[in-house]
Amino acid sequence: MKVLVEKDYDSMSRRAAEIFIEEIRKKPDIILGLATGSTPIGTYKELINEYNKGNLDFSKVKSFNLDEYIGLDGSHPNSYRYFMDDNLFNHINIDKNNTFVPSGIAEDLENHCKEYDKMIDEAGGIDIQVLGIGENGHIAFNEPDEKLSNGTFVVNLTEETIMANSRFFDNNEEVPKKAISMGIGSILKAKKIVLLASGRKKANVIKELLGNDFITTKLPASFLLLHQDVTIIVDEEAYGKLD
Ligand code: PGA
Repeated sequence: MKVLVEKDYDSMSRRAAEIFIEEIRKKPDIILGLATGSTPIGTYKELINEYNKGNLDFSKVKSFNLDEYIGLDGSHPNSYRYFMDDNLFNHINIDKNNTFVPSGIAEDLENHCKEYDKMIDEAGGIDIQVLGIGENGHIAFNEPDEKLSNGTFVVNLTEETIMANSRFFDNNEEVPKKAISMGIGSILKAKKIVLLASGRKKANVIKELLGNDFITTKLPASFLLLHQDVTIIVDEEAYGKLD
């Protein structure tokens, strides 16, 4: 794993965007793996800036998102589809028909999960995947547990994650308790992975991840150790508990 330590959130975001910009220029019909949450917003802003300067073309790009809340449709302001439209897709020239987010309202969720993995495979696989990390070590909604899912799956969110996500809702009761998430195996199939972490709240989990050399389902992000091309970009606060 390559680890880059940047001064703060803005420089972390710029560094991540530089990697994405280079990859998109190299392969205009690239398949991006995208994430929601606070962490990648700065990176998306940098991509939008680059697009606005006329330096980046998304017309042939496809994207697949990691996850979606069950029960929210794409017009709900807390859905991840809405988040992606709002924070990225509405501001660049990507064809929305080429942007895929799992459906939180699919009738047959189990089948939808299988179809989602199949769609990624049939598109040629994700070229570059951006990831955040939860304070509990989750990536996407792969929560610490006795076992982890290989493919895309329906997940019961942990209390910890529901609490962490409640900041975006009016109250805890409104936070969906279930989600669809790409599995660890789906994520590890990406050709290149960039994990971002910013702020003091992430310092413990980053220390766990970078300070050890073992893989455990109790720290889902540790499975990234199995991948050949992972870049971890952290800011100084998130790196704070390591030397
Ligand atoms: P955050 O979430 O980017 O909002 O910190 C990351 C995550 O929970 O995966």
